[in-house]
Amino acid sequence: MRNQAGTTSMKRRHFIKGVGAVAAASAVPGLAAKGESLSILVMGGTGFIGPPAVRALRDAGHQLTLFNRGKTNPGLFTDLELIKGDRLTEDIQQLRGQRWDVVVDTAAYVPRAVNTLMAQLDKDRLEQYVIVSTLSVYANFGTPGIDESAAKETLADPESEDVNQYYGALKFACEEAARAAIPGKVLTVRPGMIVGPGDRTDRFTYWPVRVARGGRVLAPGAPADSIQTIDCRDLAAFISRCVGNRTLGEFNATSDAGVTFGDVLSACRRVANPDAEIVWVPHDFLMEQGVNEWVDLPFWVHPEGELGGAWTVNTQRATAAGLRHRPIGDTVADLYAWWLEQPEERRARLRAGMSAEREAEVLAAWGRRADG
Ligand SMILES: NC(=O)c1ccc[n+]([C@@H]2O[C@H](COP(=O)([O-])OP(=O)(O)OC[C@H]3O[C@@H](n4cnc5c(N)ncnc54)[C@H](OP(=O)(O)O)[C@@H]3O)[C@@H](O)[C@H]2O)c1
Repeated sequence: MRNQAGTTSMKRRHFIKGVGAVAAASAVPGLAAKGESLSILVMGGTGFIGPPAVRALRDAGHQLTLFNRGKTNPGLFTDLELIKGDRLTEDIQQLRGQRWDVVVDTAAYVPRAVNTLMAQLDKDRLEQYVIVSTLSVYANFGTPGIDESAAKETLADPESEDVNQYYGALKFACEEAARAAIPGKVLTVRPGMIVGPGDRTDRFTYWPVRVARGGRVLAPGAPADSIQTIDCRDLAAFISRCVGNRTLGEFNATSDAGVTFGDVLSACRRVANPDAEIVWVPHDFLMEQGVNEWVDLPFWVHPEGELGGAWTVNTQRATAAGLRHRPIGDTVADLYAWWLEQPEERRARLRAGMSAEREAEVLAAWGRRADG
């Protein structure tokens, strides 16, 4: 394959950018009773996963304050208190002396963002800090069944804040910063690929949109191949549940094994275009054609490649703590409905997946192979 090393590291970086022993799920003694209204600071809250998390926590009866710069979806939660500022500047000092029971942080990317936040908080009052991390903290996706104790990415340059280069390692450094500042009070949620309405990446969206265009749709591998995702609303419900229960520890948060690529594309045909023809092309043939795993066909990983364990992540701990998943067909339907509501200029430029021309080339090559 062309430029093996470069292609491999780019592929891993794309995958990593897309996507944590540990106390078992436990209610901490002496804390506010379950069901009580808590005072909660949400760091972020207005992007993709923030809004459903804010709604779930608000609907559970908690008192919420948001901290963000007011740039992303301004005016989304006019009923909630907003402290406006950039967390990476001295703006963070607005939080000094204020007291919260719980902090939910959906937007920490560098450890400095956690350390400066921790320096403001009343750590005695704080019962729980929820950090939304990522499965990308794990160092090796070639192995199946990654659980929360698997080896983590390490930061090659401890001073670096280059999130593009060191996304997984920096997210793990954020987790570690929190655990060092408030030991025993941290809930670490490590989502897999988050999907659903509002997804700005268009990775999962590629599939219903491609199926809607119709014709012969290039699909990777076989319909029975696994895929793991988490709907942003299921993630939100899990976070809210864990706040209610004051659950602590580290949790992989993605779907159970059992959902397949075939399920996804069947759902896409149902909601977007039943006439589309799905053409399953073997992994090795796609590799021979230079199709870039993950990048050209979002969510495609070669089961024997360096990302081969990506869709076999162990989610037992989160399931035991109450993580539940809606059917993938519901996610596809709601995502596609959201997509159709987007402005035409937005829909004209899909941000992920392969071009129609390139897809046609690969399908033609597969046709020649199949005929020969
Ligand atoms: N997408 C995936 O598939 C995936 C997978 C695994 C994990 N994750 C994790 O999930 C989270 C996704 O976040 P999201 O964007 O959906 O969260 P979000 O909370 O919905 O949106 C990001 C928030 O952070 C605020 N923000 C950004 N920079 C800021 C700054 N310097 N100071 C203060 N506020 C700032 C933004 O508002 P302003 O711009 O107005 O400041 C916005 O409210 C991340 O932690 C990511 O690592 C994502």
